[in-house]
Amino acid sequence: SDLYCVFGHPISHSRSPALHAAFAAQTDQALHYEARDPDEAFESAWHAFVEEGGLGANVTVPFKERAYRLADRLTERASRAGAVNTLMVNAQGQALGDTTDGVGLLRDLVRLQARLEGGRILVLGAGGAVRGVLEPLLETAPATVMVANRTASKASALAEAFKDLGPVEGGHFDDATGHFDVIINGTSASLGNELPALPNVTLDETTLAYDMMYAARPTVFMTWAEALGARTSDGLGMLVEQAAASFELWRGAVPETEPVRRAVRQALT
Ligand code: ATR
Repeated sequence: SDLYCVFGHPISHSRSPALHAAFAAQTDQALHYEARDPDEAFESAWHAFVEEGGLGANVTVPFKERAYRLADRLTERASRAGAVNTLMVNAQGQALGDTTDGVGLLRDLVRLQARLEGGRILVLGAGGAVRGVLEPLLETAPATVMVANRTASKASALAEAFKDLGPVEGGHFDDATGHFDVIINGTSASLGNELPALPNVTLDETTLAYDMMYAARPTVFMTWAEALGARTSDGLGMLVEQAAASFELWRGAVPETEPVRRAVRQALT
């Protein structure tokens, strides 16, 4: 049957094979989706995969920037993001690179009824994960998107790169001031159980605090935000939605994400 895979290193804990198997079952698509760890050799692993007849792949840490460079053609959003999480072999045998991370986050924020249009949005972090989601956030016509980062210069550079799309500014954590409708944690700080201090930020029950990470238990970021009265979510929904968006691109079929998100959540706990 039609062959797909996810490339990452490490990859053994990837949820992607289970997600795509569920989407395939739901939409009656015959396909095989597996996890591959190319270690260092991502590019040769991709070419070997295409030789085997592979039709498309997801790409995760640490290969998203290399997939961006490897792609023969890029969608506009992947080009802007500087990263590719979805590769597709086109009729000419070329690799088309796209990214579905941003739409994945956006769809989950919409599901959670976040105030995006006219809202004040704070994004923590200025690495690859944040670069990948700024375009769809700015397309929702927010009042402002503030990018705050430990290294302020990286946040300012990101703001500069996206300012033609809408009102975005960059700075240090201290530079984020006032009330925000949405706070998105896109730092890898919670991996080390740390939390950036946001001394000048206020949040309340109208705030959605969203962590792009997910775990069986609430993240440190979520625990912090909840104590201040905010609504919280981890990034499991984003994971499921970005997978669904890749599936749609490859297969032209739209899976239902809610039952899949529930199943993955249950499997986590
Ligand atoms: P990713 O692809 O996950 O975005 P990255 O590009 O390495 O990974 O970016 C990691 C982000 O997490 C950066 O914004 C980083 O801040 P710096 O730019 O100052 O390095 C942020 N980060 C990592 N550890 C952190 C910590 N302990 N406290 C605050 N921010 C942290």
